[in-house]
Amino acid sequence: MKTIMITGGSKGLGRALTHAFLRRGDNVAVCARGEDGLESLRSETKRLAGKLLAVAADVSIERDVERFISLAEQKFGRIDVLINNAAILGPSPMPLLLDYPTCDFLEVLKANIASPFMVTKRVLPGMLVNGSGSVINITSEAGAIGYAGWGAYGISKFGVEGLTETWADELTETAIRMNMVDPGSMDTEMHQLAVPERDYSLPKPDEHLDVFLYLASDASLGVNGKRFEAQEFHLEGEY
Ligand SMILES: NC(=O)c1ccc[n+]([C@@H]2O[C@H](COP(=O)([O-])OP(=O)(O)OC[C@H]3O[C@@H](n4cnc5c(N)ncnc54)[C@H](OP(=O)(O)O)[C@@H]3O)[C@@H](O)[C@H]2O)c1
Repeated sequence: MKTIMITGGSKGLGRALTHAFLRRGDNVAVCARGEDGLESLRSETKRLAGKLLAVAADVSIERDVERFISLAEQKFGRIDVLINNAAILGPSPMPLLLDYPTCDFLEVLKANIASPFMVTKRVLPGMLVNGSGSVINITSEAGAIGYAGWGAYGISKFGVEGLTETWADELTETAIRMNMVDPGSMDTEMHQLAVPERDYSLPKPDEHLDVFLYLASDASLGVNGKRFEAQEFHLEGEY
């Protein structure tokens, strides 16, 4: 049984991960800005094996980050796995960079790059003291290839990839591992905002979770600084 912290656990991929870890009996601490999504998560997961802490907090605000992590440490004692999942798309439809409002650009970078930086910086000292821990950052294909029209969102995911590679390198001599996962396109609110005209079906967010279970487990000890594609991930064995 481990304690898993998931930012943005009330919808989409974060919600699917919360269910998956609770079903296994893990403790899960999640946050989101909206209380409604958290309340429905609390009631629908009541009968699952693990314990849930669901806190209304905006991870782009440092004092919210502090409150969320302090509450999680108080309730569960330690954090074994951090999944930096929360992100925003920015304006929808996404403007070309030439038309992109600077305030929106800065808001997206703050939410998508500064937040995983702040949350990780607050969680890592505990992991270092415990001598174990796994950090999983969520990237996107738009963070590996610069696509026209993906604006600040795509650029922010390039930042997430840089953050992961740099920090993983700094963690080389420690027992902590940091990796990133591109979940691939999924049928979520964010994708609906990104591609409102979509007329094809997509995987549900709970369909390709094996890579997250693997990276959270001791089977991935020593795996550091790697980029995974959730929809291509296959590994035999238990994790
Ligand atoms: N969907 C895709 O096709 C796709 C593809 C590649 C990568 N991704 C990545 O996968 C991750 C999950 O995406 P998703 O599609 O599941 O998104 P989603 O459906 O929009 O859900 C995002 C979650 O994050 C929360 N959140 C957003 N900003 C937050 C903040 N500042 N503080 C706290 N919580 C916040 C949201 O709740 P509140 O709004 O209540 O805060 C919600 O629970 C993201 O990192 C995304 O970039 C998604």
